[in-house]
Amino acid sequence: MNLPPAVEIDEVICQCYQVKESTIREVIAKDNLKDIDSVTGACEAGGGCHSCHILIQLFIDQNQEKATVMEDLVHDHGQKVKKKGILSRFFKKV
Ligand code: FES
Repeated sequence: MNLPPAVEIDEVICQCYQVKESTIREVIAKDNLKDIDSVTGACEAGGGCHSCHILIQLFIDQNQEKATVMEDLVHDHGQKVKKKGILSRFFKKV
């Protein structure tokens, strides 16, 4: 039996603006963006309720190959999370 081709999961990360993970990672990598405001300016992600800021910061850190300290991210951005599912996605991606 042949296995199906690998399915790339490209989730919507910013629910307010329906921006997918691939788009956010692309704009961060393209211009080496280092803060959430710049990402919002480039693709609108993070410009609404701010729930996705924790994931955007994680992607920025990963682009810079920075060791992400989970406690710091949750401390800095956890309280902004208002949309369901964002935190479970965060812990899946760490
Ligand atoms: S989910 Fe990204 S700003 Fe609301």
